[in-house]
Amino acid sequence: MIVLGIETSCDETAAAVVTDAREIMSNVVLSQIEDHRPFGGIVPEVAARAHLEHADHVIGQAMKDADIGFNDIDAVAATTGPGLIGGVLVGAMSAKAIALAANKPFVAVNHLEGHALTARLTDDIAFPYLLLLVSGGHCQLLMCNGVGSYTRLGTTIDDAVGEAFDKTAKMLGLGYPGGPLIEQAAATGDATRFDFPRPMKGKPGCDFSFSGLKSSVRRAIELLGDDLDAATQSDVAASFQVAVADSLVSRTRKAIETAKESAPNLSHLVVAGGVAANHAIGDALRSLCTETGLTLIQPAPALCTDNGAMIAWAGLERFRLGHTDPLDFKARPRWPMDPDAPPAAFAGVKA
Ligand code: KG4
Ligand code: ZN
Repeated sequence: MIVLGIETSCDETAAAVVTDAREIMSNVVLSQIEDHRPFGGIVPEVAARAHLEHADHVIGQAMKDADIGFNDIDAVAATTGPGLIGGVLVGAMSAKAIALAANKPFVAVNHLEGHALTARLTDDIAFPYLLLLVSGGHCQLLMCNGVGSYTRLGTTIDDAVGEAFDKTAKMLGLGYPGGPLIEQAAATGDATRFDFPRPMKGKPGCDFSFSGLKSSVRRAIELLGDDLDAATQSDVAASFQVAVADSLVSRTRKAIETAKESAPNLSHLVVAGGVAANHAIGDALRSLCTETGLTLIQPAPALCTDNGAMIAWAGLERFRLGHTDPLDFKARPRWPMDPDAPPAAFAGVKA
C-alpha cells in the first residue's frame, strides 16, 4: 500500500510518499523560515501565498524521489486542519485535485493525528501510548488509544511551549525561530542564575501555562537593562529552558499517573513537535521515563517537526481501516483530537 501525503498547515510546504511496510519512499520539506524571519514570526497571508507558489513542485519532487506516478499510489492524504486556513486550503485542494484526476481515494488528516501516529511509523509501537505534543502551535498531553481515538489529558491554557521559546528569544534579541537559538545560548549559560517560576508544577490536572514564565523573563530582562551582555543572555536562556523542562516533566508525570489508571500496562511515552528537538527537554523526559518504567520514543528531528511523511502515514493508517473522505470535505481551522474533552479552565484559543 502506497500513500502520498501533503502538509501545508503552518510554515512548511511538505509532501511525502510512505508504504504500509513503514518505508518512507520520499519526504520533501520546504521551510518558509526565510519568508517569515523579517517579521519575527509566521504571517498567515505570507504563508498561504508561499504554499500556493511551492505546493506543485514540492509534490512533484516527492513523486520523483519515490520514483512512482500517481497511478501507483493507493490514496492521497492531506492535512485538512487544524492550522492556518489559507495554507490548509492549498494542500487540501491540491490533494483533492490529484485524487479526482488519478481516480484515487482522498483521506482528510488531522495534523495533530499526524504527529500522534508518527511513532508507529518510526518505531512500530502498539496502542495505547501517551503523547506529549510540544510545538509552536500546540502543547498537549494525549492518550493515544487507537487510530481516531484520543483522550486529552492536558492542554495549554495560554501559550504553546514553542511560542514561549520564540517570544523569549525575541525578548533576548536572539532572532527567529527562537527554540534552537535559546538552546544554543543555554549551552554555555548558568541555569541557576535566575529563579524563574515552574508554571503549574504540583498543581492538580495536566494542563500547561507559559504566560507567567514569559512575564517573569520579561521583568528580569527589563531589570538587567544595559547589563544584558552575551553571557547574561546565555544565563537567562539556560534558566528559562530548565524552568520549561521542569514544568513539562511535572505535567507529564501527572499524565503518566492518570494514564496508568486506565492502562496499567502503559509502556511508551512519545514526544513530538518541534520542541521535542530540544536536548535538555529530551534528557529530562528520559529521566522521567526511567523513573516511571516507560520507554521514551523521540522520533528524529525531521519527523518531529512538520513534514509530509507524518500526514502520509496517518492517511495510510486511516485508509487501511477503511476511512476515506469525500472531495467536498471541509477544511477545519480548529479540529480537537478529543472532541469530548471539557474546555481547559481559563483557556484561550489554543485549547
Ligand atoms: O512542530 P513545529 O516545527 O511547527 C509547529 O509549530 O507546528 O514546531 C516549531 C516550534 C517553534 O516554536 C520552534 O522555536 C520550536 O518548535 N523549536 C524548538 C527547538 N527547535 C524548534 N524549541 C526548543 N528547542 C529546540 N531545539
Ligand atoms: Zn505540527
